Amino acid sequence: MILIGFMGSGKSTVARRLGERMQLPAIDLDDEVVRMSGMDIPKIFKAEGESGFREREYAALKQFSEAECIVATGGGIVTYGPSYSLLQDMEVPVIYLHADFDTLYTRIKEDSNRPLVKSREQVKALYKERLGRYRKLANQEIDCNRSVEQIVSNIFEIQ
Ligand code: S3P
Repeated sequence: MILIGFMGSGKSTVARRLGERMQLPAIDLDDEVVRMSGMDIPKIFKAEGESGFREREYAALKQFSEAECIVATGGGIVTYGPSYSLLQDMEVPVIYLHADFDTLYTRIKEDSNRPLVKSREQVKALYKERLGRYRKLANQEIDCNRSVEQIVSNIFEIQ
């Protein structure tokens, strides 16, 4: 199963809890990129730009594309053609964790580990640009503006 959604939607936490409940490993792609590159995310963006990060993210996704696990993706994965296509071709459910922009922005605005979080307007533009892609790619949309337990139970029920 793949979890997609904007920054701050809780993909990593939900993946972990879901993994415990379904007895499957939970993989956080950001963590994998950091592990595989030996650099943290701001450093990758600084050294290689967003395009370098997207290539690394794709390579990490590819590694888990056939594994039986819960994968929490980074919020921008849907903007990179090869990653989008790979997600589309994978024969596992893709779940979109949705929340409104203001809720997400409040959660992420102080986070220095997310290089794409700049002004409110810039982040809003990303949100608007990505919303349609999340919805097009996902098999299910889950409202993530509630407790992690409720989200996990909801996903568990529909599987
Ligand atoms: C990004 C989201 C981040 C991380 C990187 C880029 C994005 O992951 O991959 O900072 O473009 O939205 P989270 O969605 O886990 O914050």
